[in-house]
Amino acid sequence: MIEGAEGLFARIEEFPNPAAQTRVDSLVGLDDLISRLAQDAVAFADPTALRLWSEHVHGAVVPAVDALTDRTPLFIFSGDVGVGKTEVAEVLGQVVATSTRMDVTLYPLSLAARGRGAVGEMTTLITGTFDRITADFIKARRSDGTSESLGILLIDEGDALAQSRELAQMHHEDRAGVNALLRGIDGMRSDRLPILTIVCTNRLDAIDPALRRRAAVIEVFERPGHVQRAALLSRLFAGTGMSAADIDALAAVTSEVPGRPYGYTYSDLRQRLVPEVVLEAFRRKAAIDATIATDVLRRVPPTKPFAEAA
Ligand SMILES: Nc1ncnc2c1ncn2[C@@H]1O[C@H](COP(=O)(O)OP(=O)(O)OP(=O)(O)O)[C@@H](O)[C@H]1O
Ligand SMILES: [Mg+2]
Repeated sequence: MIEGAEGLFARIEEFPNPAAQTRVDSLVGLDDLISRLAQDAVAFADPTALRLWSEHVHGAVVPAVDALTDRTPLFIFSGDVGVGKTEVAEVLGQVVATSTRMDVTLYPLSLAARGRGAVGEMTTLITGTFDRITADFIKARRSDGTSESLGILLIDEGDALAQSRELAQMHHEDRAGVNALLRGIDGMRSDRLPILTIVCTNRLDAIDPALRRRAAVIEVFERPGHVQRAALLSRLFAGTGMSAADIDALAAVTSEVPGRPYGYTYSDLRQRLVPEVVLEAFRRKAAIDATIATDVLRRVPPTKPFAEAA
């Protein structure tokens, strides 16, 4: 048992599993992104398949492949609040598992939730995390170095890795945390462990430049556009009194409007507006329809963009 490994992660999740598939199926407008990320996840975290492909098509592992596999298996998901970063990071393993037949394990770690107390805490936490995952995966690795499993280390709210730079006395500790992270990722790579690290953040510029430079993939998530809002709303309001025209009108008024240069986020629609509409219809003992949706909309404004918030 690794010292301090208990309680490091919120909940370790194994894929494939039916609950994760339900979450994948409920996402709209992200199919292409998710399947690209799933393919990249496998390519970066387990270059075996890449080498086999190169041997197959080029007769050898060409130098260009090595240039790719030198990249750090690190993805950074950045973007506004409620746009799907955490959701995609948490279900990516499901997509990899179902498209490759690999067993995938998600290790979710929230730095923000753990606070930043004593000096050295961040470093200890990150080092403990990597020790724990390494211990799990060394057992799983086959003797020829190839792998049928993939680990995903999710560092959500990754801003905590750099956030308190303004506080001069924390500066050293911040660097130490980032260095521990890079060391951990490099260590897993040299042990040939198939582990992908995903860091989520609201602010790309809050992420240490050394970390940003290393990332194999930096994905910036956006608020939904009209088509995505309509797709999400029509899925959520299926079977109600909302017609296709009603849905389209609702998708239009939840976009940016004069005087409000931002539209509704995915979470604004899914976790605030739609539940409120249901509640209101229930209170009125009425069917869900466009009138109720319009009434509710007035008291459920969209979340301000992160930079403007608070
Ligand atoms: N593409 C999508 N389709 C449907 N629902 C979505 C989509 N993206 C996000 N959601 C919904 O919005 C909620 C918020 O998404 P998520 O937690 O991934 O946001 P986030 O980008 O991590 O935001 P934060 O920066 O606040 O952590 C999710 O629980 C999910 O229900
Ligand atoms: Mg999130």
